[in-house]
Amino acid sequence: MKRKIALPIWIGFLLIISLLLEASSQGIKETTIRNVTVKTVRYTIKPVNSNRKPEKRVLKKGAIDRFLEFSNFDVTYKKGKKKKTRRIYRGRPYSFRLNEEYELDLYDGSHGRSDAPDLAPYVPTPEDVVDKMLSMAKIDKDDILYDLGCGDGRIVITAAKKYGIRGVGVDIDPKRISESNANALYAGVENLVEFKLQDVLKVDFSEATVLMVYLLPESLKLLRPMFDTLLTPGTIVVSHNYAVSGWEDKEIDYTSLVHEEEIIHTIYVYRK
Ligand SMILES: C[S@@+](CC[C@H](N)C(=O)[O-])C[C@H]1O[C@@H](n2cnc3c(N)ncnc32)[C@H](O)[C@@H]1O
Repeated sequence: MKRKIALPIWIGFLLIISLLLEASSQGIKETTIRNVTVKTVRYTIKPVNSNRKPEKRVLKKGAIDRFLEFSNFDVTYKKGKKKKTRRIYRGRPYSFRLNEEYELDLYDGSHGRSDAPDLAPYVPTPEDVVDKMLSMAKIDKDDILYDLGCGDGRIVITAAKKYGIRGVGVDIDPKRISESNANALYAGVENLVEFKLQDVLKVDFSEATVLMVYLLPESLKLLRPMFDTLLTPGTIVVSHNYAVSGWEDKEIDYTSLVHEEEIIHTIYVYRK
């Protein structure tokens, strides 16, 4: 027996389809909020300049909420014992993470893909810190350098320019990979470097003799088993700002330098 579908359901369905079509024709991406903590996060979300009541959301560990509205939002959540509201902007990725005091906070993310972890938002390493990381790695002319989460490719490109070595950068964000390729061309090192649009967790970086990372501590925890299995003994791993937990016995050098605005950058060097 055929069932009739009520008119309001059809209208709702058509509305959703037209919204999706409009969004994709305007190149509008969804706003995503990911829960990178190990607990369920409860928060409310309210479109900016709207009379709508805040909507309650429950986000399980590892889950991603997706919003395809054309507005910015105010997100309210409990940071420690206090309520905090943060404005987020449409089409961008965000992540709930724990801050250094182990309180919940909402940070910029790097992508809203469900098939890959968000290892760190895009924050480029300042050029003088890049120089220091490379000098601490004690690069040899035969080295092959990988930067996992390479951003605009600056570390790989500087290494190729200064030391003439081959390098590979991996990033999940297509914009970053286009920037990296353009920067390599501009620097005239396109024959020495390669940039891969890929999830770091799916890349075979076993040929690396020098590995650079500027990723969040929990991401380094996720990657460490790959360091253990993929990297050959003797490989140098240089980590910007965060220590590789579990590799304390492999640490061979450490420094911290004060950059502009009194921001401290720490560099950890390990030998596998
Ligand atoms: C803190 S930035 C570091 C950029 C660069 N290494 C530097 O030091 O200037 C982290 C980068 O990791 C990328 N990223 C985040 N999750 C990723 C993943 N699962 N696979 C590949 N890249 C990822 C982001 O897009 C971002 O460009």
